[in-house]
Amino acid sequence: MPQTVPLFDKVAKHYDSLNTFFSLGMDTLWRKKLALELSGSSSILDIATGTGEVAIQMVKNLSGVKVTGLDPSAGMLELAKNKIGSSEISDQISLTQGSAENLPFTDDSFDAVSIAFGIRNTQDPAKSLSEMRRVLRAGGRAGIMEFAIPENRLFKPLYLFYFRNILPLVASVFGNRNEYKYLSDSTRAFPQREGFIELMEQSGLRVEKTVELMLGIVIIYVGVKESR
Ligand SMILES: C[S@@+](CC[C@H](N)C(=O)[O-])C[C@H]1O[C@@H](n2cnc3c(N)ncnc32)[C@H](O)[C@@H]1O
Repeated sequence: MPQTVPLFDKVAKHYDSLNTFFSLGMDTLWRKKLALELSGSSSILDIATGTGEVAIQMVKNLSGVKVTGLDPSAGMLELAKNKIGSSEISDQISLTQGSAENLPFTDDSFDAVSIAFGIRNTQDPAKSLSEMRRVLRAGGRAGIMEFAIPENRLFKPLYLFYFRNILPLVASVFGNRNEYKYLSDSTRAFPQREGFIELMEQSGLRVEKTVELMLGIVIIYVGVKESR
């Protein structure tokens, strides 16, 4: 995987608005769904937290939860800090700079970990999954949300056309054509469904369930840390 941090530093300014535009406003609901999959957890580590949108959904939907948001991109974290810093939820979210492959936390530190649209961007997804497992307490859950290519034979060609051609074209208006072309290329190349489940299981996360959203353009994988 390429080093993607400079890409996210570049895209940070338009990140939230482009997401909402391209997902027709569904992205907030997807993140809320991910948060609800981890309900019952008191401490959550949100990896690749970016502008903090998942962390915010967790605090809004899971009562009393404490969230640590981690991301290597200074540009994305700066936006998260500005958004969260002055809000009434600021005492429930802490932000820290770091990478999924080398989490700066001791073993068994969190009830749950999440990563939304981030595992595909790490340089070593298998190492990142092992790290997620390491910082989870036994029985804790990992919620991983990632884009996928839908399998429906009518929807798939339409979606691929949109993904390959329309999305980078619209993003070019904001000066982010290459970054959104990367989104399309990397999603098609990244393991999904059975392929990703296998990767999670090899990293010691037993996959409990998968949830397909919007005809399978987004998938949430929920894994559990079992004691080995
Ligand atoms: C597409 S954004 C997702 C942000 C956020 N989770 C959301 O739902 O909007 C991907 C994020 O992954 C981060 N990232 C890139 N490489 C990473 C790594 N090795 N470890 C952790 N995060 C990484 C980027 O900086 C970026 O903020």
